[in-house]
Amino acid sequence: MEGQGMETGQILSMNGGCGEESYAKNSHAQNAYLSKTIPVLHAALLDFCTKKLPATITIADLGCSSGPNTLFAISQSMSIIHDTCRQIGCSPPQFSVFLNDLPSNDFNTVFKSLPQFQKRMMEENGQDFGPCYIAGVPGSFYGRLFPAKSLHFVQSSTSLHWLSQVPLELSDCSDKAMVNKGKIYISRTSPPRVVEAYLSQFRRDFSSFLRLRSEEIAPGGHMVLTFRGRRMPDPFPDESCLLWDYLGLAFQDLVSQGLIEEEKLDSYNTPYYEPYVEDVRAEIEREGSFTLDRLEIIVAPWDGMNGGQRYDRRKTAEMMAKAMRAVNESMITSHFGDQILDSLFERFIDIMARDTKEVEHPNLVVSLIRKS
Ligand SMILES: C[S@@+](CC[C@H](N)C(=O)[O-])C[C@H]1O[C@@H](n2cnc3c(N)ncnc32)[C@H](O)[C@@H]1O
Repeated sequence: MEGQGMETGQILSMNGGCGEESYAKNSHAQNAYLSKTIPVLHAALLDFCTKKLPATITIADLGCSSGPNTLFAISQSMSIIHDTCRQIGCSPPQFSVFLNDLPSNDFNTVFKSLPQFQKRMMEENGQDFGPCYIAGVPGSFYGRLFPAKSLHFVQSSTSLHWLSQVPLELSDCSDKAMVNKGKIYISRTSPPRVVEAYLSQFRRDFSSFLRLRSEEIAPGGHMVLTFRGRRMPDPFPDESCLLWDYLGLAFQDLVSQGLIEEEKLDSYNTPYYEPYVEDVRAEIEREGSFTLDRLEIIVAPWDGMNGGQRYDRRKTAEMMAKAMRAVNESMITSHFGDQILDSLFERFIDIMARDTKEVEHPNLVVSLIRKS
């Protein structure tokens, strides 16, 4: 069956291009998380710059996607390093920047925007900026991507909550204890073993992510990661599960209308997990390659995808549907086909518009230093 047992890289890609349905046009919420991460990024880079700097600083952004956020993240890091070098009186470094995402990512749109980006960086930072050499690196960050000890600074924003795959245990639909009935992510009605399977998958994935990066990052190098997570141990808080519940209800409506089969829905789960902050801390300590410099929780408002505009509930639901669709469309299409997409997201809008809950969206920001 499609999706289940497949690696996420085979089914996940943000909607490409710059059109109305694209991730580029529907990633205001992720931009809000990125902006709130800047103080932690700044502190990590200041610390990094107090060490003996190499003539060329190598930065990698993991899960860069395509759109304004892709270059926003790396532009911030390069500008902070450049400014700091100026302030402490050392020569500005050159930059080697690697933009990583899954091979199906729309790298072409990113590459087309690079000449304009390089020009803007010179204008904003001065003629002594850079140069910066930018390259795309297609591949999963759950595998090796770079030569040993070749990276100085790694950043990743709103990406690490994607698991390498849906937990394999969930593909056994004959085992009732593993069927996430009518749901597509962890929900209050999920059997305990489903919740455990998600947690185990996260632990395996996060631990292997840390081990792989520990091989690639030079001793003393830094890594700043921002991803969706929980500030409470309860695995079902509305702030983690509500949007997935809305989408699950929209799917259930399609089942009752006979547009999709019930078994088809029961066998669809999302390769996504929002870990509890203390589980993240424990996994970093257990893996052991990095010193935990900071672990913070940042919170974006429930309507962050409105890009700072105040809209009524229905318009907000429409904006949320577009944001959810830009991220989930490829996976839904791979499992159900694309005929259901419009009906599904119309149902999502109705369900969200009828409800009254307004939940915040917490993200974990983790700043790590590679042990020597
Ligand atoms: C929500 S987007 C975030 C993009 C961008 N960093 C931002 O802040 O807007 C998540 C990105 O992570 C990528 N991603 C998910 N799993 C990945 C993996 N295993 N390896 C590399 N990229 C991955 C997705 O393809 C997607 O482009």
